[in-house]
Amino acid sequence: MSNWRMIDFSALGDERGSLIALESHKNIPFLIRRVYYIYDTKIGVSRGFHAHRDLEQVAVCVSGECTFFLDDGHQREEILLDSPIKGLYLGSMVWREMSNFSHNCVLMVLASRHYDELDYIRNYEDFLRDIK
Ligand code: TYD
Repeated sequence: MSNWRMIDFSALGDERGSLIALESHKNIPFLIRRVYYIYDTKIGVSRGFHAHRDLEQVAVCVSGECTFFLDDGHQREEILLDSPIKGLYLGSMVWREMSNFSHNCVLMVLASRHYDELDYIRNYEDFLRDIK
């Protein structure tokens, strides 16, 4: 079984519009310690190209769309994130590459840990060696 999955959020909607609330250990399966977002990504740019040793994340495209390419060394999957009601849970040791950012894409990421460069595996050969 892969260490990623989609999470469907419940939108609280009324005649004024929609609202989604994200809460640690409720619809987000870890304690949220960090939030960052990627926006204004230039046409044709790909990002990511790394895995994390321990970090868990949930990625939400709150505006626009982008594509995640995921790889755990055994399975690979391409996932289109194109809705604010969909979250992509990424567990540890998942190689990710993001591409096809639309001009209006705002990719918000909730993370289980503070930023730590030592948690990154940025070389694909190292990643394949470490998951063995
Ligand atoms: P980077 O890991 O290259 O982003 P991506 O995974 O989208 O390719 O991060 C870009 C820069 O931002 C890099 O210098 C590290 C820094 N950064 C932080 O300082 N804090 C953070 O929470 C993140 C995600 C990145």
